Amino acid sequence: MHTVIAIDGPAASGKSSVARLLARKLGFLYVNSGAMYRAVTWLATSRGIAATDIGRVLGLLDVTRFECGTVANQSTILVDGVDPDPHLTEPAVNANVSAISAIPEVRRLLVEKQRLFAEAHDLVMEGRDIGSVVFPDTPYKFYVDASPEVRAARRAKQGLTDAIGERDKVDTTRRTSPLVIAEDAHVIESSHLTIDGVVGEIIGRLKLKGLALREGV
Ligand code: DC
Repeated sequence: MHTVIAIDGPAASGKSSVARLLARKLGFLYVNSGAMYRAVTWLATSRGIAATDIGRVLGLLDVTRFECGTVANQSTILVDGVDPDPHLTEPAVNANVSAISAIPEVRRLLVEKQRLFAEAHDLVMEGRDIGSVVFPDTPYKFYVDASPEVRAARRAKQGLTDAIGERDKVDTTRRTSPLVIAEDAHVIESSHLTIDGVVGEIIGRLKLKGLALREGV
């Protein structure tokens, strides 16, 4: 088992930018677990399957190959050999990803794949349940938050249609692995911080905890 840094938080809290930069500085693999849930959602919506039609979603999972890999220190996922990346922030995916990711069987499949990454790599993984469920034993857990206004403004700036309030509601109230602040997570309120500021705070904390980082970090 390699070193795992878990970064959780609500939609548009800045955790992707933070996790990507942190991983680059540390020389760790960056894994975006949300992209995996988005890939399954894209698969279902592109086949005209409603997120509420759990039987058909599961039927689709049964006949689909999901291959996880890495390219240039970032995780990748192929769906029956196709890279879904260009579709992952489409409005239909944003609108349905919370419902798809609330399906326990979907979570079981993806959590298994997420854990496999740590068998071969030191990594920074971001998501909703990384510190609470996927890697509960890692001592390096962070929860990045920001006010709803700041988060909505960040999405608008990206030009994306994304009802983050709705997603937050589903993500925090679902029965299986809801978004929670893990008991031992270090919470960072990022509304008034830059990406560099948040990454700096995380690195400071990792050093305090005695994690050996590469020279110059
Ligand atoms: O991080 P993101 O906004 O791209 O994630 C998209 C959705 O995927 C999010 O609304 C809930 C789900 N998700 C999850 O349930 N568990 C994770 N570890 C990561 C994402």
